[in-house]
Amino acid sequence: MHTPVISIIGAGNMGSSLIGGLIKDGHPSDKLWAADPSGEKLTQLKTKFDINTTSDNAQAIQAADTIIFAVKPQAFAHVALPLKKVIAERKPLVISIAAGIREASIQQWLNGKTPIVRAMPNTPALIGCGATALYANPYVTESQRNLAESILRAVGVVVWLNDEKLMDTVTALSGSGPAYFFLMMEALQEAAEDLGLPTETARLLTLQTALGAARMAIESGTSLAELRRKVTSPGGTTEKAISVLEENNIRRLFKQALQAAKLRSEELATLLGKE
Ligand SMILES: NC(=O)c1ccc[n+]([C@@H]2O[C@H](COP(=O)([O-])OP(=O)(O)OC[C@H]3O[C@@H](n4cnc5c(N)ncnc54)[C@H](OP(=O)(O)O)[C@@H]3O)[C@@H](O)[C@H]2O)c1
Repeated sequence: MHTPVISIIGAGNMGSSLIGGLIKDGHPSDKLWAADPSGEKLTQLKTKFDINTTSDNAQAIQAADTIIFAVKPQAFAHVALPLKKVIAERKPLVISIAAGIREASIQQWLNGKTPIVRAMPNTPALIGCGATALYANPYVTESQRNLAESILRAVGVVVWLNDEKLMDTVTALSGSGPAYFFLMMEALQEAAEDLGLPTETARLLTLQTALGAARMAIESGTSLAELRRKVTSPGGTTEKAISVLEENNIRRLFKQALQAAKLRSEELATLLGKE
């Protein structure tokens, strides 16, 4: 069976995490290429994973079955344009993890009927616990879809979207989402400190409660509403706290927050497409 050659352009936080995930998954190191302007980053990757490295993007994609663009969104066009000819000739699968860069913009910069998968991972991908949404354009074959999915699964869970527009909602939910949970944990820790707990105790109990709740929700398969009901005894302490949150319209706040983030994602995508 042919083992795909995967070339990663941009060996920063995300690019390096993907390489680490792929190696952990058993992808052969000689079938991985990383390109980056920083010799230091490349040396680190070479030492740690023994993959192929180069500062020349064109060299990195010479034999690529898949090219992953892991550069900053603002750098995308500048990085893609010099590779346009080779990509148009060879038609490898192009995976973009750049936030807010639409498939139509990439297609326009690459100037061909390129198979493109857009991926929207989130920061926990850096520790192998990401949540990634994928969208494939019509030129992507079934085996390329499977390949893209297996690559992103190396750094967490993966879902597919049929409509690219939903990427803006994903950005608002899981893309920005870690910050919402950090804020909630910060607020809970502060509230517990106000009620007398030492900082470190409040922090540890907050974090472990968040982790435990997420794991219970994932592992039980029960709906979130049902899980909440199960831990909310009538007349008990949880019921009192939940009623304060509901009376203060926590649901409406989250709706407004996600709507604002989605709108901003749409605005940024339009701006980035003009670069
Ligand atoms: N980090 C996240 O949690 C996260 C989440 C979702 C999506 N993303 C997306 O992932 C992409 C990468 O993010 P990141 O956090 O990994 O950024 P990063 O750490 O800055 O990595 C980007 C890398 O690309 C390199 N680069 C710059 N110009 C290049 C060129 N011409 N050719 C090849 N490489 C070049 C950069 O080198 P220099 O540093 O020398 O410029 C850097 O090493 C972004 O588009 C972002 O939207 C990231």
